[in-house]
Amino acid sequence: MCGVVAVLGKENASQLVVEGLKKLEYRGYDSAGIASVSQGLLQTIKSEGKLVNLTQKLHRSTKEKLYLNNSIAVGHTRWATHGNISFENAHPLTSENKIAIVHNGIIENFEILKKDLTSLGYNFKSKTDTEVLPHLFMKYIKLGNDLLEAGRLVLKDIKGAFAFVAMSVDFPNQLFVSRNSSPLAIGLGDNAKFIGSDAHSIDHLTQRIIYLEDGDHALLKINNLDIFDKDYKKVSRKIINIHAEIGLITKGGYNHFMEKEIFEQTVVLPQTTSSFIKNKSEIVIDFDKFGFKKKQSLIICAAGTSYYAGMVGKYWIEQIADIPVIVDLASEYRYRKPSIFGQSSMLVISQSGESLDTLMALRYGKELGLKTNAIVNVEGSTIDREVDYSLYTRVGPEIGVASTKSFTSQLVILFLIAVGLGKRFNNLKTFQIKKKCQLMNMLPSAVANMLETENQIKLVAKNIKNSKSVIFLGRGLLYPLALEGALKLKEISYIHAEGFAAGEMKHGPIALIEENVPVIMFLISDGNENKSISNLQEAHSRGAKIILIADKKCIDKAPFAHFTVEIPDFENEFQSSLSPLLMSIPAQLLAFHVAKERGTDVDQPRNLAKSVTVE
Ligand code: AGP
Repeated sequence: MCGVVAVLGKENASQLVVEGLKKLEYRGYDSAGIASVSQGLLQTIKSEGKLVNLTQKLHRSTKEKLYLNNSIAVGHTRWATHGNISFENAHPLTSENKIAIVHNGIIENFEILKKDLTSLGYNFKSKTDTEVLPHLFMKYIKLGNDLLEAGRLVLKDIKGAFAFVAMSVDFPNQLFVSRNSSPLAIGLGDNAKFIGSDAHSIDHLTQRIIYLEDGDHALLKINNLDIFDKDYKKVSRKIINIHAEIGLITKGGYNHFMEKEIFEQTVVLPQTTSSFIKNKSEIVIDFDKFGFKKKQSLIICAAGTSYYAGMVGKYWIEQIADIPVIVDLASEYRYRKPSIFGQSSMLVISQSGESLDTLMALRYGKELGLKTNAIVNVEGSTIDREVDYSLYTRVGPEIGVASTKSFTSQLVILFLIAVGLGKRFNNLKTFQIKKKCQLMNMLPSAVANMLETENQIKLVAKNIKNSKSVIFLGRGLLYPLALEGALKLKEISYIHAEGFAAGEMKHGPIALIEENVPVIMFLISDGNENKSISNLQEAHSRGAKIILIADKKCIDKAPFAHFTVEIPDFENEFQSSLSPLLMSIPAQLLAFHVAKERGTDVDQPRNLAKSVTVE
């Protein structure tokens, strides 16, 4: 989603901004731009598509001396919301070539503001909501306000979620910033200031970071930073020392981040496990903090893959701890007036810690009086900072837009929450707890074995790469995985894919089956496999191409399958308890190889953003 970077007080500011934008590429974007002020002139360069187009333009303009050296610059990667992907709609957006704005979020009342500004003679060149911002600044500066005063008047006018930076030729050594629900970090340097959508985007410039709080605005000067809260009260926000992650964010010899992230699960999952299991069977989760002083229901909210992890979590927590769980899409929760009867605790799940839907659900849960907890990967993210209690997946940066290692690590924590709650409410005996912790410790080598299915998966990928539509089926713990498998495939290969609970097929989706439609089932011998095989048989009788990803026993029971991917032999309890963790490996590999076969952009698929910071 949109990324914002700004530099104040450093030579070659534009170049440094571009370096920051490169680090935000993983978030997903479709155009980019930079602006700077030099010798009293506002210079703007924008381009559609990837950053390389922008850097080429910048390079040419610098060579031809059309673009001047500068020590103040703002930059942006845009993920289109209002207005199509075009040069005009790319940021920075300007007014009278004197003000430049970069913005992440949505100005919800832009239409009315645009009408007023148009009647005052302001000329709109783009179809964006953002363009009201530079014109509003212009209007207030023309009335004699300085940048800070103008910014405050703008904030009074606008509604919505945003993080924006304003730069003006009239105040060439200042930047105005504000945030409301969209992420923003300020970096402190020696005689310099920096701004980024996340701390990583500016960690090549400084490791001293301040996160603005919602409703804050700030005026940055080379040697000064004034932060104000929503009531204009001067405030000081905590300075956090971060560690540069530059070394970690490489493809490590793989061609794609997603591929690397799939294969490193053997190494990173133990990082998750080891922070929650001590002395072999002690689960280190503070259930008092979590809001579980007594046995009550739990509400889980999340989006996309994290939501599917939550669905698996529900199955585990209900089975293992006998605690009722409601799982809700974060984007639905806050608008449906949920009942909190019997609940004291909310768990949100988010890799980025910045998904606005999830953040809003969390804030709503807080308002309702729930204790709030998060399973989160990015420490210091907005969700991490706002919840009462965070459980970190600690799998390192995930750059591929498709979630892989974050999903499996979320599952690890959910399983341990289930076991921990089972212990707390006496639903498990000591030997059962020990056993379940042992299962977790067997996970890395099991994941390594599952990765060995890659060659079988490649054959399936070749076979289905031209399909128009693919159906995924699963039952029980593998039902959420069918949904996840379908999401993964559609997001990076652009093939239409749907996941269903195997038993639901006959209630409608079976109408979709026609000759050669691939039906992919995840199956494990868990006592219910015969039912699923019957469901598969029903699809087979109607001409579907049957692809079974299963253990040997299940495969033997379905000789009619056209393709099979045989998973290694694991101990029964391990296999049936942790099937979603195991099966997520072939699901990820399949999506990856189909995308590769089709030549799509695996790491930055079209239209998608890694961090979804609009509602
Ligand atoms: C998964 O592959 C997706 N790219 C997406 O569904 C993602 O899981 C969702 O946007 C939630 O993100 P979060 O975990 O960072 O909150």
